[in-house]
Amino acid sequence: MRKNFGPKAYMYPQPVLVISSYNEDNSPNTMVAAWGSCADYDKVAIYIAASHKSMDNILNRKAFTVSFADVAHIKQVDFLGIVSGHKDSEKFAKSGLHAERAENVDAPIITEFPVALECEFESYDAEAELCIARVVNVSAEESVLDADGKIDLVKLNAVVFDTVKHSYIAIGDRVGKAFSDGKNL
Ligand SMILES: Cc1cc2nc3c(=O)[nH]c(=O)nc-3n(C[C@H](O)[C@H](O)[C@H](O)COP(=O)(O)O)c2cc1C
Repeated sequence: MRKNFGPKAYMYPQPVLVISSYNEDNSPNTMVAAWGSCADYDKVAIYIAASHKSMDNILNRKAFTVSFADVAHIKQVDFLGIVSGHKDSEKFAKSGLHAERAENVDAPIITEFPVALECEFESYDAEAELCIARVVNVSAEESVLDADGKIDLVKLNAVVFDTVKHSYIAIGDRVGKAFSDGKNL
């Protein structure tokens, strides 16, 4: 017996994106977005409310970075997702995280997160509140690379967002090989 939940855009899993940009005074600001995705091979599409400080920053600097929330930093990430830089200019400092300048875009990278997408702003649909950006570089710490030098999602220990229960879920083990496991059927 199936239960109906009506018209909800439930999507499993939703990422927990950590979006960092520079304030006017060059201090970092970071927000969290679970309504985001890749769009094409070198673009990201993220729903960012126009009311967020991050959106002002992104429109000013035409850049931001995206990292991925991990199990080790749940509390810091959640804090960055519930406090606005509009209300607290010390928000990032209070999170206890550290930032360094991205090499290729005018935006900070959070040191504690091993993978960062350096994004160049492309467009913002103010009605849909959808931001599109081009990824100009991805950098990753060696700690999350496998023996072949590729980013290993299991090592990243990223979390996903459960929109129904408003919670963070750790990603589990590798259970299959894409474009391969289905070949035998
Ligand atoms: C788990 C989680 C997911 C969120 N997803 C989004 C999102 O996809 N888009 C958005 O605009 N805000 C989202 N938010 C809210 C912002 O992160 C939050 O309002 C933040 O304080 C904005 O910060 P800022 O004003 O400093 O930019 C999310 C918050 C949490 C905790």
